[in-house]
Formats: sequence, C-alpha cells, structure tokens
Amino acid sequence: MLILWIKALHIIFVISWFGGLFYLPRLFVNHAMISDSATSERLKLMERKLYRFMTPLGVLALAFGIWLWLGFGYSGTWLNIKLALVAVLAAYHLYCGHLVKVFAADANQYGHVFYRWFNEVPVLVLFAIVFLVVLKP
Ligand code: HEM
Repeated sequence: MLILWIKALHIIFVISWFGGLFYLPRLFVNHAMISDSATSERLKLMERKLYRFMTPLGVLALAFGIWLWLGFGYSGTWLNIKLALVAVLAAYHLYCGHLVKVFAADANQYGHVFYRWFNEVPVLVLFAIVFLVVLKP
C-alpha cells in the first residue's frame, strides 16, 4: 500500500517541521528580551541552524502532501481550505527566515510580547488543518 507509506511520511515530516515552527519563534521571544551580546550571538547561531534544518523538513512535508493530493485524486472543500492554510504556513515559514536575518543584523524592531503572539500562529493553523483533514466537513 504505497499510499499508506506516503501518508505516514507526510505525517512524520509535518510533525518534524512543526518542531521548528514552534521553537524558532520561541527563540525570537528570548532574543527580544536579552541585551548582552554573548547571548545574542548564541541565539543568532541557534536561529540560523534551526531555520536551515527545518526548511527541508517543510519541503518534504509539502512534497508528500502534494504527492497524496495529485497522485491519489483527493479533492473537496476541506482540501481547498487546507491548501489556503498551508499557504499561510509557508508564508509564516519564509517570514521566520526573514526575521532570522533581521536578528542577525541586530535590527529587530519588535518586543517579546509581539513574538509571543506571533508564536501562536502555527498553533492555530495546526488545529484548523488537523480538524479539516480528520473531520472533512
Ligand atoms: C501542500 C501541502 C499539503 C497537501 C497537498 C496535503 C495533502 C494531504 C492529503 C491528500 C492527505 C490525505 C487525506 C486523507 O487520507 O484523508 C493528507 C493527510 C494529512 N495531512 Fe496533509 N497536505 C499538505 C500539508 C499538510 C500540513 C502543513 C499539515 C499539518 C499542519 C498536514 C496534515 C495532515 C495530516 C495530519 C494528515 C493525516 C490525515 C489522516 O490520515 O486522516 N498536511 N494531506
């Protein structure tokens, strides 16, 4: 059953990708709260490495999702809404990459409260997508 292997891999890479989507903005919260340069340099390194690691995980999660979608004829309103939410998530991911560069240049403009709220975006999208794929309303 090829489809089940692809689905399992899709779920594995989604979970792995979300590890980064939850943790990277959490690093931004810490980064926005500190002022000493040694800690800032350590956080810059962690942010850069984490982003570099989570990008291929996201690409694989989407690639296996697209394979399921186009290879096995899934369709429906749930899928259309899911794809729109996936676009939000991809934009969020890319914006995180932009923020990694902003912090690296010591040019952050936002406080830790902003990043705490920012950190909740992938949580909400995760709830919405899992309800959609499981309940298929
Ligand atoms: C281009 C992006 C994506 C596409 C085209 C896609 C497509 C699909 C398809 C066609 C299925 C099979 C549904 C079924 O078996 O009923 C599926 C399963 C699933 N997807 Fe995605 N997906 C994508 C991204 C995501 C993302 C970002 C998440 C998480 C936030 C996610 C979470 C899941 C889960 C949890 C399942 C398992 C559902 C089940 O077996 O009942 N997918 N996906």
